[in-house]
Amino acid sequence: MNNPIGIFDSGIGGLTVVKQLMHLMPEEQLIYFGDTARVPYGTKSKQLVQQYALQDAHFLLQYDVKMIVVACNTASASALDVLQENLDIPVLGVVTPGASSAAAQTRNGKIGVIGTSATINSNAYTDEIKRLSASAEVFAQACPLLVPLVEEGWLDDYVTSLTIKKYLHELLKVHMDTLILGCTHYPVLGEAIQKITGEAVTLIDSGKETAKAVQKMLSEKGMLHRGRKQAENRFFVSDIPAKFEEVGSRFLGKPLTNVERVDFDQFLIRSGLTDEFQR
Ligand code: DGL
Repeated sequence: MNNPIGIFDSGIGGLTVVKQLMHLMPEEQLIYFGDTARVPYGTKSKQLVQQYALQDAHFLLQYDVKMIVVACNTASASALDVLQENLDIPVLGVVTPGASSAAAQTRNGKIGVIGTSATINSNAYTDEIKRLSASAEVFAQACPLLVPLVEEGWLDDYVTSLTIKKYLHELLKVHMDTLILGCTHYPVLGEAIQKITGEAVTLIDSGKETAKAVQKMLSEKGMLHRGRKQAENRFFVSDIPAKFEEVGSRFLGKPLTNVERVDFDQFLIRSGLTDEFQR
C-alpha cells in the first residue's frame, strides 16, 4: 500500500521519530505535521491536548495517509484512545512501544520514566508497564526544563548536565536499571543522560521502539510500501519558530530544508473543526 504514513507532534521534537522511521523504512513516504504555533503540549490540560491531537490528525487525513503515528509522548499519553475511537485508520502512539521494550529489557524490575509534566501526570507509561508486567516497579519523574534546553542546543553543557542530575537524583537512588526517554526531545540528550546514569542503566528511546512497531504493524496488515520510493517526504508546521531549520536538523540528524508553513486556523475553519472539537 503506497499511501504515505502521517506523523504529528506538538512541534519539531517528533523529528526524532521521523529519523527512526526513515532509517527503518526509507521507501515509505512520510507526511509530518508539527504544531509549532501551539507548542508546548506538555504543560497543557488533557482536554486541550485531546482537542489539538484530533485537529492535527485531521490535517494529516487530507493527504490520504494509511496510518497515523503520534510521535508526541504527551499526545500519545493523553489522546491515543480518543484518536483511535474517532479515526478509521490505524493510529499508533509512542507509549506502548516504549513501555513494552522497557518491560522486556529490565533485569531487576525497576524502571524509570522521564517526560513532560502532562505525560508523567497521565500515568500512561506506568499503567502500560504494570499491564505488561504486574511485578515491575515504576518510578516517574517530570523533567520540564529539558525541552527548552534541547531547543536551545545546550546538549553538552554543564547547565544541562546539572539539570539532568537534579531530575534523576531520586530515580538513581532506587537503582532502576532501565530508563524510558518518554519525550520526543530526550533522545537528543541520550549521551548526556547516559553520563549521569552510568552504563548500567539501559536507556529506552520510545521513538526508536515506535518505528519498529510501525514496521511490524504495516507488515502484518500487508500495508508496507511496495517498490521504490515514489514521492518525497513533506514537512508541515503551523508556525515557523526561530532557528527552525537549525533545531530541526539536529533532531533529524541531517539538513531539513523543505518545510512548508500552513495557516492552521484557516484549515480548521475550512474543515469545520473549530466548533466540533471545542469542549
Ligand atoms: N513533543 C512533546 C512530548 O514528546 C514535548 C514538547 C511539548 O511539550 O510539546 O511530550
